[in-house]
Amino acid sequence: MGIRFAAGAALVLALSGCYAQEMANQDRYEPLEASGLFEDGMASRQPIEGTVARGQLFEDDHLYRGTVAGQPATEFPFEITAEIMARGQERYQIFCTPCHDQLGTGAGIVVQRGFRRPSSLHVDRLRAAPPGYFFDVMTNGFGAMSSYASQVPAEDRWAIAAYIRALQLSQNANEADLAPEDLELLGAQR
Ligand code: HEC
Repeated sequence: MGIRFAAGAALVLALSGCYAQEMANQDRYEPLEASGLFEDGMASRQPIEGTVARGQLFEDDHLYRGTVAGQPATEFPFEITAEIMARGQERYQIFCTPCHDQLGTGAGIVVQRGFRRPSSLHVDRLRAAPPGYFFDVMTNGFGAMSSYASQVPAEDRWAIAAYIRALQLSQNANEADLAPEDLELLGAQR
């Protein structure tokens, strides 16, 4: 009895597997295949004019293009929290240190092996550049540096820009900017 049941179950499974295969093999168009059904001769259809696919409405210029009224944004498009700063640090260390190095001086391992050396992130010109400028460099590339738009989503590009600001501050901080307890800590380490 047990064996007969098992055999029956196996047969049902085998048959259903067969049907599933038939569905996979049924007539259908491959992507970009020709078709006589439509006037343009293509099976794949164009998006209907004036429509936007769900999740692809990138209309926020500040968030997606780093500009406000056509100029590089001087503010971040969202609040920079400690969590976002940590994310920016992690993303910077993954995507940017190979060339710009941990500190941003531009002596990363790829540069040591002969790639063009980028400007230090601590020169006055880049310290004065607005966050939207860093977003733009990551989004569109800059000279020998390629675009990171396809690897780093917009929110992460802003997080990296925030971390660059922190790096810049770290290399140009004054003692007077420090809280008394931090000064004391420094004193203890001297
Ligand atoms: C493969 C090496 C490489 C990587 C990785 C890289 N960069 Fe660059 N970056 C360069 C080079 C080279 C330049 C200078 C390009 C030139 O002068 O042609 C540059 C220039 C820059 C500049 C300065 C633009 C200016 O006005 O001088 C910024 C800012 C910058 N990169 C940010 C980043 C950030 C942020 C990342 C990580 C998302 C990154 N880069 C990843 C190579 C790299």
